[in-house]
Amino acid sequence: MNKEPIIRKRKIEDSAELAHSIALVWNTTYKGIVDDDFLKGLLDNEKESAKRLESNLNDQPNYYVLILQGKIIGWIYYTLDSDKYDNAAEIHSLYILKEYQGNGYGKMLYEYAIKNIKKKGIKKLVIGCLEGNPSNNFYKHLGGKYIGNNLFREKYLENIYLFEL
Ligand SMILES: CC(C)(COP(=O)(O)OP(=O)(O)OC[C@H]1O[C@@H](n2cnc3c(N)ncnc32)[C@H](O)[C@@H]1OP(=O)(O)O)[C@@H](O)C(=O)NCCC(=O)NCCS
Repeated sequence: MNKEPIIRKRKIEDSAELAHSIALVWNTTYKGIVDDDFLKGLLDNEKESAKRLESNLNDQPNYYVLILQGKIIGWIYYTLDSDKYDNAAEIHSLYILKEYQGNGYGKMLYEYAIKNIKKKGIKKLVIGCLEGNPSNNFYKHLGGKYIGNNLFREKYLENIYLFEL
């Protein structure tokens, strides 16, 4: 099996594994930030999440998974537009499983996405990150400029970062 990670579009057959990984990484990332009930709900409702992922597949063409030795260890989902900023792409989701963080994989997915986005002639990118998440510093480290905030799910403060590509 390949020891180097590969990036490919997510497929319908990834849905159950991806739903499980999303539930796990949300629980490790957002404990103390997002309500416990919501986080527990993700773990309890993986089957429903997997079904949603299956039915959204064609609406989310820019959803990529990072595979290491046959296992999904990270993913990125972006769109070529954003309702947060004009003429900008948006990364909606960028996650690496906790035990694989700090090995360059997050940056690998980020760079893969911006290469694709730039090829489309788009020169700006926005990303939202919940207040209290240490990943705010990851985005600042990559050159993101804080441009404001909004409410995520009408409850959680989300900081918005702008990248000039
Ligand atoms: C944020 C995340 C995607 C970063 O991926 P990663 O694989 O852990 O990070 P990398 O190893 O690719 O780090 C790349 C660079 O960012 C830096 N970095 C990583 N995490 C950082 C942090 N929390 N604060 C500051 N810098 C950070 C690294 O030191 C590295 O710097 P270098 O390129 O100068 O050596 C990952 O940690 C993660 O999934 N976190 C939990 C989920 C999350 O918060 N996602 C974002 C939701 S908005």
